[in-house]
Parts: sequence; C-alpha cells; structure tokens
Amino acid sequence: MTSLAEMWPPFGLSLSTPRLTIRPVLDEDIPSAVAAARSGVHPPGKSPFSMPWAELPDEELAPNMAQWYWRCRANFTPASWTLLLAIWHDDDFLGVQDLGAKNFTTLKTVGTGSWLKQSAQGQGFGKEMRAAVVSYAFDYLGAEVAESEAAIWNQQSLGVSTSLGYEPNGIFRDGWGEKVEEVQRVRLTPTTFKRPDWTLKVQGHEALSSYLGI
Ligand SMILES: CC(C)(COP(=O)(O)OP(=O)(O)OC[C@H]1O[C@@H](n2cnc3c(N)ncnc32)[C@H](O)[C@@H]1OP(=O)(O)O)[C@@H](O)C(=O)NCCC(=O)NCCS
Repeated sequence: MTSLAEMWPPFGLSLSTPRLTIRPVLDEDIPSAVAAARSGVHPPGKSPFSMPWAELPDEELAPNMAQWYWRCRANFTPASWTLLLAIWHDDDFLGVQDLGAKNFTTLKTVGTGSWLKQSAQGQGFGKEMRAAVVSYAFDYLGAEVAESEAAIWNQQSLGVSTSLGYEPNGIFRDGWGEKVEEVQRVRLTPTTFKRPDWTLKVQGHEALSSYLGI
C-alpha cells in the first residue's frame, strides 16, 4: 500500500542539524505542538504575533492550532505553499519553523516564521532551525532571497536574523488587532548568508520539489 508520505510529498521531507530533526507537523504531532504552546511561548500580554494565538484560552488554543495545520496543508499548491515544520530535539517537541512562498518559480523568494516554547529559547535552537530551512531553500530549492519580519522590539527574532546575515529591509506599520505595531522586514541572499559550520542533511527532497514544479 502507498504510504501517506508517498501520496502527499510534503510529509516525506526531513531535515537534520547537529541537534534537531525538522519535519512536517503530522496529525499525531498536534497534541505535542499544543502542549508546547500551552507551556508558554512568550511573556503574558507581549505577543510577538500579528494574531495573538498563543494567548487563546485553553479550549480555543487546541482547535485553533489544529485548524491552522490543516488549513496550511489544504491550501498548499505549487503557486502558494507553507511548510509547517516541527522542531524535535530527541523526543522533545520544541516548536515550529515555517517556510513558505508565493509564485516561487518566478520570484525564487521564501519567507519564514517560527516559535519555540519558552523553556527552549535562548539556547541557539532558533538560529539552528532558521539556518536549516534557509540552507534548504537556497541549496535545494534554488531560492535567491529569504525574507522575514518581526516587531521592532522582538530582539530574539531579529537576533536570529542578524546573526545569520539578514539585512534590514524597511519598517512598516501593521495593525495587530487594535494596536499599531512597527514591523521590521529583513532579507537574506546566498551571498550575505553567514552559513553554519555544519552541513544540513535532507531526506525526501526529490518528491517534494517535483510536486512543487521546481
Ligand atoms: C524567536 C525565537 C524563535 C528565537 O529562537 P531562540 O532559540 O530563542 O534564539 P537563539 O538562542 O537561537 O538566538 C539567536 C541569536 O539571537 C540573539 N538574541 C537572542 N535573544 C536576544 C535578545 N533578547 N536580545 C538580543 N539578542 C538576542 C542571540 O544572541 C543569538 O545571536 P548570536 O548567535 O549572534 O549570539 C524564539 O525566541 C521564540 O520562539 N520567541 C517567541 C516567539 C517569536 O517571537 N517568534 C517570532 C515571531 S516574528
């Protein structure tokens, strides 16, 4: 019988770094993702996300997260896709790193977003997982630009970007609910990328890239 990963190529992707295994969030991983988010992602009242999902009450958080994973899969097409990748450190679910693009075959540009549970922050995991997906985008998918953005006060996220060589790419004002936030865009190219001193291991790339038409 055909496996699910053979039927749905994104599920076959797996990236490995020295400390992390990075692979799509499967349905069976959703409870671990919810538990990690419930343990705390940011200080109370200081959401770094445009939609403050991590502050939802318990009974809304789990269905909201599950629906987000399903929605991204359901809307995944070669023209517009988002990979939601679980971050595993041994058997510990640390958080999620996403990698996505619109009109990739023309623009060769990817965007990223991420979160780690608070107990896993500040130990270099954020940098390691972003370096992994950016290496994958540049070296396997042939991306020419990687973009990201964060509230101007989000020193952790901007710290990851700066240490990997991203350059500032303008500030814009965004409406986060009722609040106006100043958001810093950042941009990385293969030339400015400060590469990690390890080499990414990749499995399952061929089927995914052919599905994406790359
Ligand atoms: C953003 C996030 C994924 C970063 O991961 P992390 O593991 O905490 O960050 P790292 O330990 O890898 O730090 C990476 C770099 O940022 C720097 N950094 C981290 N926190 C910092 C801070 N508060 N001030 C300044 N620099 C900081 C580190 O020094 C490091 O740089 P270096 O390698 O040059 O020393 C994580 O903190 C997180 O999930 N935060 C809450 C959710 C969030 O903000 N998501 C992003 C929304 S845009």
